Amino acid sequence: MNGSIITEFVFLDFSCSRSAWFILLTLVLTCYITILLGNMLIMVTVWTEPKLFQCPMYLFLANLSLLDMTLGSVASPKLVTDLLNSGRTISFGGCMAQICSQHFFGGSEMFLLAVMAYDRYVAICHPLRYTTIMNRQHCFGLLIFCWIGGLIHGIFQVAVMALLPYCGANVLDNFYCDITQLIKLACSETYVDEILLIVSDGLLLVPSLLALLVSYAIILATICGRFGKDGSKALSTCSSHLTVVGLFFGPCIFVYLKPSSYSQVDKMASVFYMVVTPALNPLIYTLRNQEVKRAIGKLKNKCQCILVPQRE
Ligand SMILES: *[C@@H]1O[C@H](CO)[C@@H](O)[C@H](O)[C@H]1NC(C)=O
Repeated sequence: MNGSIITEFVFLDFSCSRSAWFILLTLVLTCYITILLGNMLIMVTVWTEPKLFQCPMYLFLANLSLLDMTLGSVASPKLVTDLLNSGRTISFGGCMAQICSQHFFGGSEMFLLAVMAYDRYVAICHPLRYTTIMNRQHCFGLLIFCWIGGLIHGIFQVAVMALLPYCGANVLDNFYCDITQLIKLACSETYVDEILLIVSDGLLLVPSLLALLVSYAIILATICGRFGKDGSKALSTCSSHLTVVGLFFGPCIFVYLKPSSYSQVDKMASVFYMVVTPALNPLIYTLRNQEVKRAIGKLKNKCQCILVPQRE
């Protein structure tokens, strides 16, 4: 094999004008700051408010925030420094670390979204049995499943990519190490690997999506049957979650499940699900969820007490 050892990869420029560069930089920076602060705020809110901390839905939400924070950190910091400097290389190890963490956290998030849909299904369709079904142990088990499932997925993806024979071409037309791009740099036409990865992605995507769709179909049917006209109220408890699901799966499906001609549009879709979506989730939940809003208000009061010591 004429395989040369690749020690680093080069990211191709976003071919764009100065003003587009500035807009992109501002967008990514704003999103990243929102990712860190917004998700932190949600986690702290859930942890400090006992009423929320006892409710499985908010424990899932805090876990989702943690995942969004880590997923948002896979590509954004590197993208910001790359936009500021013109050096755009990443070491082989760094590239593999990006792949592993992207698929670990992304995979876990997919599972978690499915679990959250199941949680809403139980809450709406079996309200009387909710506390027994969603007890602490059961919740914990579901969360462990999400995290371990994502980890296995990440390790599998990175193992396949690290073992591919690379020939020397090392230019990636993206801003992070994306497997659909990386696989094209392999020497041999390794259809086997491509199939392996697609199967692995499919194993994750399809069951999660099915669980989501089935949960929501049953929820919808139940709401229509049981509540009649009041259904919209019950449905609104799911609407934030549905929005988040759409934002996560939409671009993901767009990039991974279509024929592999790569374009500027795909790159934008990648920016969307690597950078924008993790920033939108906390916004959606804090702006639309009354309980979270109330708890944040309480937290604000508590902080004021700490900052401004009250006179006795
Ligand atoms: C995730 O959920 C578990 C409980 O099931 C909880 O103990 C943990 O604190 C949560 N993680 C975060 C970051 O809130």
